[in-house]
Amino acid sequence: MTPEVVDVRILVTGGTGQLGGAVVARLRAAGEEVRVLSRRASPDVVPGDLRTGRGIDSAVAGTDVVVHCATDYFGREAALARTLVEAARWASAPHLVYVSIVGVDRVPLGYYRAKRETEELIAGSGLPYTIQRATQFHALVRTLLAGAARLPVVPVPRVSFQPVDVRDVAERLADLALGDPSGRADDFGGPEILPAAELTEAVLAASGRRRRTVPVAVPGETFRAYAGGGHLAPDHREGKITFAEYLAEQADAGALRYRKR
Ligand SMILES: NC(=O)c1ccc[n+]([C@@H]2O[C@H](COP(=O)([O-])OP(=O)(O)OC[C@H]3O[C@@H](n4cnc5c(N)ncnc54)[C@H](OP(=O)(O)O)[C@@H]3O)[C@@H](O)[C@H]2O)c1
Repeated sequence: MTPEVVDVRILVTGGTGQLGGAVVARLRAAGEEVRVLSRRASPDVVPGDLRTGRGIDSAVAGTDVVVHCATDYFGREAALARTLVEAARWASAPHLVYVSIVGVDRVPLGYYRAKRETEELIAGSGLPYTIQRATQFHALVRTLLAGAARLPVVPVPRVSFQPVDVRDVAERLADLALGDPSGRADDFGGPEILPAAELTEAVLAASGRRRRTVPVAVPGETFRAYAGGGHLAPDHREGKITFAEYLAEQADAGALRYRKR
């Protein structure tokens, strides 16, 4: 049975995900009524699928703001946004807040190109909008670096990262959602820019492992763009929670235990 859709102001797509979940928590803590879109039926969500369009009209109906955190890792990011924009135009033309990534116009990755295309689609939609680009989330940086750390000697690319905590990004998105549409907002980055070698050593130490790291250059234009800092926002170190603090929390929660294979 489809749950009854109540009249709430804010819809969060991707509200079951990493960032969207933090946005929902933040908005609810601020006393806002929030509707969460998900493909999976559950009592706490409005069911819908941005790929097929199922349930999207009812999910968007009556909203003043849509925070779009849903994403597609298979090249359909713009198609998802198109479905949302169409539904929003026919509904109450809500303020659309979209989260993108710092450097989508500088790093030649397919996923980044799709995000850039989506930014353009939203900017040209005629809807009131805000686009917030953020740097890499702590969990992504940890996952990227932890994979190589399984090797006896850890090859580490000569790049730096500016990891940011999703709770900090969520705070910014919640503020934007409750404010006036501002077009392309200033980039939002983590508090520190650190070499991958240092971040890898922190990941290893947090999971109780010791390994030697070896800096390596990776060929190709994507790596060159990363090495040139295309994904960084050095003038926007607005996040507060550091990578070390994030790792300490994860270690306390038992999430970093190393399983020997
Ligand atoms: N990871 C990073 O380092 C980083 C950095 C900067 C910006 N961002 C951006 O932040 C956003 C959120 O990323 P995240 O890591 O929080 O994502 P995530 O945890 O992978 O969550 C993805 C969400 O998308 C929803 N979704 C996927 N396909 C859908 C569809 N067809 N219809 C409706 N919902 C759909 C999923 O909901 P259900 O499965 O419940 O349907 C899920 O809640 C993305 O736009 C990403 O590009 C990420």
